[in-house]
Amino acid sequence: PRSIYLTRHGQSEYNSMQRLGGDSPLTEKGQKYAAALADFFEKEPVDGLRVWCSQKVRAAQTAQQLKNSAFHTEYWKALDEIDAGICEGLTYEDIQQRYPNQAEDRARDKYHYRYPSGESYEDVVSRLEPVIMELERQANVLVVSHQAVLRCILAYFYDLPLSGLPYIETPLHSLVKLTPRAYHCDSTVYTYDF
Ligand code: G3H
Repeated sequence: PRSIYLTRHGQSEYNSMQRLGGDSPLTEKGQKYAAALADFFEKEPVDGLRVWCSQKVRAAQTAQQLKNSAFHTEYWKALDEIDAGICEGLTYEDIQQRYPNQAEDRARDKYHYRYPSGESYEDVVSRLEPVIMELERQANVLVVSHQAVLRCILAYFYDLPLSGLPYIETPLHSLVKLTPRAYHCDSTVYTYDF
């Protein structure tokens, strides 16, 4: 059976400052996770793995240490993190202070809420449609992407309701292995403690 592996990028500088979005590089901890991921795939018996990565620096750096040159890597813009528009680079506290009405609207309906000049989860789900169609057709794929995007992909494969999608737990430094079966997906989560 084939498997789909899903991971967020390693910890980025913005993650460590609790800032949203941006395009910052990995921290030292994030680099350690990138090394652990490469080590995992040196040991995992997986044929012809394809690596699909977002176009953000933190995701590319996370995929960079996968040494096996047989792994073919593609960079998909559709895998980039939800665009937080006017809230990019802010912390949740900043948003609360500067745009309290936005924070309130988002808390009321997180799935449909669209950041001004940015995206909603609903928007992310629709831009992921081609990625999910390809994931359905392909053999072994590792997706290196971001929290909001992984939530959308997990909700699809686990068949979860959309209202709960924006709250799915997707911690940093964990790798999810999904193996689609006839009517469900088997899953294993590997967690690294850096
Ligand atoms: O930067 C965006 C986060 O990864 C998504 O988290 O939708 O829970 O705010 P949130």
